[in-house]
Amino acid sequence: MVRHFLSDLDFSTAEHEAVLRLAAKVKHTPQAFAHALVGKTLAMIFQKSSTRTRVSFESGMLQLGGHAIYLSAKDIQLGRGEPITDTGKVLSRYLDIIMIRTFGHDEVEALAGSSRVPVINGLDDLLHPCQALADVLTVVEHKGAARGRQLVFVGDGNNVANSLMFAGARYGMHVRVIAPRGYQPRPEIVQTAQQEAAATGAKIEVTADLAAVEGADAVYTDVWASMGQETEANKRKVAFRGFEVDRALMSRAKKDAIFLHCLPAHRGEEVAAEVIDGPQSAVFDQAENRLHVQKALMLFLLGHRTKAKGSSAPARSSRKPVKGKAKRARRR
Ligand code: CP
Ligand code: NVA
Repeated sequence: MVRHFLSDLDFSTAEHEAVLRLAAKVKHTPQAFAHALVGKTLAMIFQKSSTRTRVSFESGMLQLGGHAIYLSAKDIQLGRGEPITDTGKVLSRYLDIIMIRTFGHDEVEALAGSSRVPVINGLDDLLHPCQALADVLTVVEHKGAARGRQLVFVGDGNNVANSLMFAGARYGMHVRVIAPRGYQPRPEIVQTAQQEAAATGAKIEVTADLAAVEGADAVYTDVWASMGQETEANKRKVAFRGFEVDRALMSRAKKDAIFLHCLPAHRGEEVAAEVIDGPQSAVFDQAENRLHVQKALMLFLLGHRTKAKGSSAPARSSRKPVKGKAKRARRR
């Protein structure tokens, strides 16, 4: 069965750890992988903007010896109404792996369901699993491990927050989301994360109380209005007042806490310039790690074997469907 990476929960803990081990190898000995995917082609379908995801996937595939094709939804027939399932059936006869960034999680699932080749979720309204892989690698690099560390996400209970809760469950990393009421992650997502976390002992919590930043090894934030929510931006600025990660809030976390942000960031909104540009910020290490984890992810999904135990993609799918459909966000 073809393996996909649509949700953080699609990989077991052992598989996640194998991908991170591979990512560390890829990062430190990139030349050893320079020919690993010669002759392989990646399609990248984008229905939303991107800097990091687009460039890190494209350059990552080239660094592995393969080729990447950027497909803006506007330029392919998908943008004129061709069903995503037909797109998946056709593309997967031409190439080896597909990455998609879109709105509804159901669209990502439909693409995967029609594809003969692995599909990677490059962000949808529900999840951003490639980001969470990079985030965990960054925590490991700065804090020595993910298991047992406390990551506190402050802001909108969005796709990034959801993926962090799922990733926390897999890696045994405690995740607390601090969000104002009305903007907290959906209860069924939190429950799923908590159920999955039982296996690793991770604590997954949601609160509106900023005091929950205490004890954080990493403080994370993201924009208050995600792509597709631009018309709500002003309303959200009011709702999130007081939730900016500034020096005062950082001082309530552990002294040596790092600051994380998936980027792009709005200085003076969700994060103060003094924090994102300050000494605790690890945001550019985090952005760089997108490249390394995605190279490892593509290698893993395409069956690249390493000597490390458990690092080859097994044939059997361990995919767990995400409960509840993410409705397609309003398009401009
Ligand atoms: N963090 C992230 O996914 O960035 P882009 O939107 O630039 O791809
Ligand atoms: N939550 C943001 C993440 C961007 C990388 C968005 O979906 O726009």
